[in-house]
Amino acid sequence: MNEQYILAIETSCDETAAAIIRNGTEIVSNVVASQIESQKRFGGVVPEIASRHHVEQITIVIEETLKDANMQPSDLTAVAVTEGPGLVGALLIGINAAKAFAFVHGLPLIPVHHIAGHIYANALVEPLQFPLLALVVSGGHTELVFMKEHGSFEVIGETRDDAAGEAYDKVARVLKMPYPGGPHIDRMAHEATEGIDFPRAWLEEDSYDFSFSGLKSAVINYKHNLEQRGEEIIPEKVAKGFQDSVVEVLTKKTVRAAREYKVKQVIAAGGVSANKGLRESLEKAFEQEGIAFTVPPLKLCTDNAAMIGAAAAHMYNAGVRGNLAMNGLPGKEL
Ligand code: KG4
Ligand code: ZN
Repeated sequence: MNEQYILAIETSCDETAAAIIRNGTEIVSNVVASQIESQKRFGGVVPEIASRHHVEQITIVIEETLKDANMQPSDLTAVAVTEGPGLVGALLIGINAAKAFAFVHGLPLIPVHHIAGHIYANALVEPLQFPLLALVVSGGHTELVFMKEHGSFEVIGETRDDAAGEAYDKVARVLKMPYPGGPHIDRMAHEATEGIDFPRAWLEEDSYDFSFSGLKSAVINYKHNLEQRGEEIIPEKVAKGFQDSVVEVLTKKTVRAAREYKVKQVIAAGGVSANKGLRESLEKAFEQEGIAFTVPPLKLCTDNAAMIGAAAAHMYNAGVRGNLAMNGLPGKEL
């Protein structure tokens, strides 16, 4: 078999990232330039600022990726890039860089869905086993995705309001923690032995959808009530109560879906899958269920280009190709 080397580019939000993936499973190089430090000042991602950072970083990041891999453009098989969803101005920087690179070096282009990328981060850990269920939890998405084979994605449940990561970031703001708040809440939750009892949004009995805005409001109301009574809030207890609610709902719905769809493997993906409480809860639940469970190492949970390269490898083999008319698709469906 010919060796396949894919250069992948990801700029959908606030990370400027490039990677080279060998045969869909092995990371040859993986560079992520984060903008977190500058976005922190604004308490979140400002689209215009994200785009400007991408413009400054993209060429440097691609060059560094090739240098780390000790490779030339002529060694590559294809160029993959995130087409959407994401911030359109941010996506366009990566897409145009990919188009230019592919055009100059005569390489095929592969457009990749950002969520497919998050899912395929797991293919860098071990081969995916189908049928498969993916719990995708990130700053922009909360979805349960059923896959009967490579490249086939059926969204069986999704959030009706906030994404899980968005709820984490908003609650962190209420607790005066810096952006992105997920890791802070996670750490604080582990510092408390007892959490505040917040509600769980189960929705209809047979629904695989999620809702986190009610929980977020419950945290805000709890804080206001305490403040009105002149009482001190214990942030660790709030963090634990919030995290316990999110983790319990995510775990139970994923277990129910895994049983109904009789899957061979369950995977978690996206920034919130870096959450210690969620990882432990899912690991334990699927050990009890006797179903294989995989979650990527922490640095492949949050946005990166290695995952885009892993997804692109299967698309390349299936004959998927983009062209120079490719555009950023901020609302692209899976
Ligand atoms: O996948 P990602 O890097 O970007 C999107 O595609 O959205 O996810 C970022 C999200 C942020 O909301 C961040 O707070 C959350 O992932 N996150 C976490 C943890 N690490 C990152 N949430 C909970 N616990 C964590 N340890
Ligand atoms: Zn993401």
